[in-house]
Amino acid sequence: MPDALDLLKTRRSVKPIELDGPAPSPAEVETILTIASRVPDHGKLVPWRFIVFEGEARVAAGEAIVAAFRSKYPQANEEQAAFERGRLARAPLVIAVVSRAAPHVKIPEWEQVLSAGAAAMNLVLAAHALGYAASWQTEWYAYDRGVLDALGLSANERIAGFVHIGYSRAPATDRPRPALAEIATRFG
Ligand SMILES: Cc1cc2nc3c(=O)[nH]c(=O)nc-3n(C[C@H](O)[C@H](O)[C@H](O)COP(=O)(O)O)c2cc1C
Repeated sequence: MPDALDLLKTRRSVKPIELDGPAPSPAEVETILTIASRVPDHGKLVPWRFIVFEGEARVAAGEAIVAAFRSKYPQANEEQAAFERGRLARAPLVIAVVSRAAPHVKIPEWEQVLSAGAAAMNLVLAAHALGYAASWQTEWYAYDRGVLDALGLSANERIAGFVHIGYSRAPATDRPRPALAEIATRFG
């Protein structure tokens, strides 16, 4: 188990195609979801939920993605279709974070969306803390109504992200991070 500060200082995304099995165990998935749901939530509205894709269900969901893809690109070849079918099967586990933000008498919708983002980030960090790597992605199908219907999202729900989780086989490289002097100022 990495030390908390080390984890937070070194976490980086690993692409879905660079994530291998075995998938997290059911107990680990429960831990990940428990941590993901422990986020600030103004008004305690729980403006998010999770959908777990594992095993064969990843490809079943991929059928909805490939159907939407084919309706957009009827000329697409089999290789392209196979790639789309496998979108949620690149990593051994994918968890969608669904925002349920909606107009509310007191709590701005923006704050509900932020809470969904916090849930997604906690989910990523929980996976890393368990020794996995993760990648928070949306990709085109997160915005396709046909795919959202097939995944069971209602009209007011949106995908905050698909978090792909697995063991990293990526080289240990990082990207440049913003210089603190450019993003943090002291007031006054
Ligand atoms: C809401 C959201 C959606 C994202 N969607 C994608 C995506 O579709 N494809 C992608 O390559 N990266 C996407 N990213 C970026 C990656 O999660 C990641 O931040 C990026 O690859 C940089 O890696 P890092 O986490 O090590 O900084 C998204 C990030 C956020 C916050």
